[in-house]
Amino acid sequence: MNTITLNNGVNMPQLGFGVWQVPDDEAERAVGVAIQAGYRSIDTARIYDNEEGVGRAVRESGVRRDDLFVTTKLWNDDHDYDKALRAFDAGAERLGLDVIDLYLIHWPVPSQDRYVEAWKALEKLYADGRVRAIGVSNFTVEALERLLAEAQVVPAVNQIELHPQLGQAELRAVNAKHGIVTEAWSPLGQGKGLLDLPLLAEIGGRHGKSPAQVVLRWHVQLGNVVIPKSVTPARIRENIEVFDFALDQDEMDAITALDSGRRLGPDPATFG
Ligand SMILES: NC(=O)c1ccc[n+]([C@@H]2O[C@H](COP(=O)([O-])OP(=O)(O)OC[C@H]3O[C@@H](n4cnc5c(N)ncnc54)[C@H](OP(=O)(O)O)[C@@H]3O)[C@@H](O)[C@H]2O)c1
Repeated sequence: MNTITLNNGVNMPQLGFGVWQVPDDEAERAVGVAIQAGYRSIDTARIYDNEEGVGRAVRESGVRRDDLFVTTKLWNDDHDYDKALRAFDAGAERLGLDVIDLYLIHWPVPSQDRYVEAWKALEKLYADGRVRAIGVSNFTVEALERLLAEAQVVPAVNQIELHPQLGQAELRAVNAKHGIVTEAWSPLGQGKGLLDLPLLAEIGGRHGKSPAQVVLRWHVQLGNVVIPKSVTPARIRENIEVFDFALDQDEMDAITALDSGRRLGPDPATFG
């Protein structure tokens, strides 16, 4: 498994396992399958309502805690400093973990305009050693630059919607300029629509790989951290088998050219 070194020296697996829309019990089973398949990074959030199942799977996996990387996120109604500290404690307790590897502000919610205050709480958690790295999610260029103007700690990660149909070239470049790793959510474009494109089958055919593996390989070669979700054991295993082949520059460019600005989730500039 490739790892990416964050701006504070912490190593993060480049490919992890997402569990949005997976009920708690099913999350426990799916995360168990994923860890057995070789995944070492899990991405959850308070709003997914499955931190307990994720925590059970992590604790019962037989893999050393130090070898696993767990991300969770602060929800939008907890951007108050004290509420954010309490929300972190509650999340860590649901996960059954003393230390979280990566804690993210889930959405900036510009209309509420309290993400700088929330960030101060994340900086406190980081200074206290409760979390190994802190970052943001769904931060636009505008929100990121405003945060950076007031932050003591530069976010390690910006987790954003990113797949071949929403390439996010500008935001990726701004993240990189500040030493922030780009992490792709909905990296498979949520499966439908993207994975049926003939181009991906054609490229996959040349390498003996599926369309999903081609898309994940494209992310890996761009340097994105990627967190595909599946509850299907065969797909969970398939999605991690992307480190034994390489796309050439023409293939990379052809996939990048699929960008149509097709956004699947809400617009972070207005959401919340
Ligand atoms: N920060 C945020 O605001 C945010 C927002 C959205 C998501 N996320 C994170 O990003 C993770 C991934 O995003 P996502 O769940 O939206 O979408 P995704 O990973 O792009 O796609 C998941 C969908 O693709 C299907 N799939 C998975 N592997 C496949 C394969 N090899 N072949 C064909 N279909 C396949 C899955 O089906 P089955 O499960 O039925 O196999 C599921 O329907 C989430 O789980 C979450 O952790 C974060």
